[in-house]
Amino acid sequence: MKVLLIGSGGREHSLAWALAKSPKLTKLYAAPGNAGITAHAELSDLDVSNHAGVIAFCQDKQIEFVVVGPEAPLVAGLVDDLNAAGIKAFGPAKVPAQLEGSKAFTKAVCDEADIPTAGYGRFDNEAGALAYVREKGAPIVIKADGLAAGKGVVVAMTLAEAEAAVTACFEGSFGAAGSEVVIEEFLEGEEASFFVLSDGTNALPLATAQDHKRAYDGDEGPNTGGMGAYSPAPVLTDDLIADVMKRIIEPTIVTLAKRGTPFKGVLYAGLMITADGPKLIEYNTRFGDPECQVLMMRLQSDLLELMLASAEGTLDQCSADWSDDVALTVVMAAKGYPGSYDKGTEIKGINNAASAGVEVFHAGTKADGDKVLANGGRVLNVTALGTSVKAAQQAAYEAVQKIDWPDGFCRTDIGWRAVTRENGN
Ligand code: AMP
Ligand code: GLY
Repeated sequence: MKVLLIGSGGREHSLAWALAKSPKLTKLYAAPGNAGITAHAELSDLDVSNHAGVIAFCQDKQIEFVVVGPEAPLVAGLVDDLNAAGIKAFGPAKVPAQLEGSKAFTKAVCDEADIPTAGYGRFDNEAGALAYVREKGAPIVIKADGLAAGKGVVVAMTLAEAEAAVTACFEGSFGAAGSEVVIEEFLEGEEASFFVLSDGTNALPLATAQDHKRAYDGDEGPNTGGMGAYSPAPVLTDDLIADVMKRIIEPTIVTLAKRGTPFKGVLYAGLMITADGPKLIEYNTRFGDPECQVLMMRLQSDLLELMLASAEGTLDQCSADWSDDVALTVVMAAKGYPGSYDKGTEIKGINNAASAGVEVFHAGTKADGDKVLANGGRVLNVTALGTSVKAAQQAAYEAVQKIDWPDGFCRTDIGWRAVTRENGN
């Protein structure tokens, strides 16, 4: 089967790497891809926002299945248009992708299905929003309703911060995404991510992960897309997973099916494990980045078969098998990220760093002849397997040492929380 993979990050490199292992795959294309993905796929500079162009490309190359990595094409309805043209795709249609595309949509699903989540108010005007935060007080969480590339959330510890965040939203800091605001109760606990595949009816649990969103060691500094991750997440015990499936995931799948807009694809639940049990913070409708990289390292089943079963409605006949090992990934980013940074600096030693149980996934790179150049903020994901979090952490950082990139940096403490737990502290 010929497959087209949409996206260009570390997530997509790990998906390409896993798809390439499938005996079902005859040829993989990627648009736009990156320097690492060239090992597994032929790259195309197709404009992904031009759905007619994507369909024409698939017809020309006899591509039968499209795997959509990032959220923007899902929310833009690429899967709907591909399906209408008779091309199968992995990922949700436009309406169920609103679970990621609109925080208000998700809150309405939670209300309808009685799913545990933070209490909230929803506002389309500044005066109403300000009155609400003044009534509730701090700490409180202000969220732009729409897609804001992970930047539309302010966890305000003081009322002044909360008021400033509300005003910034309505003044257009997040563009159209902020024309509506969701204001939430502050949840306390440990965060974890849980991934599930659905075919619209069935929900197949995948695995758990935890990421590190802050730029610097000790979970300090500005928020980023994620500076590292590991799987499994020790905080999510089997009992908690069963509870999350029953009270959060299954009611979501049932509600969307009942509405006539079934959810197909991967559902990524961001959870807070509170004293009252797990609560839903948010849904994403694609794999996490860099969480996908650690999931793919542990996945032992055929990814292409699982994705096809999600698209075709046959997930009840599938299982997902995982290595018992822990996978951990360290993100190497360009100095300055998440602020401004240089592009085009050369990275050496990537091939020396990869070994048995260690993969270097490319997140933002570009090939220039034989050279690999940095081409983004998050640039490489050095990913390792180990029999414990500590072992995976050691293997990943040993591999980081072999990469020669003076213009990059990484956190030195990815996995610290889980290592502390392993040490029994
Ligand atoms: P989101 O984009 O909704 O995942 O929010 C980004 C981050 O803000 C989350 O990963 C949490 O760390 C934090 N956050 C979001 N909502 C809440 C909440 N209700 N209570 C506490 N922290 C939150
Ligand atoms: N690592 C967080 C995300 O992919 O949304």
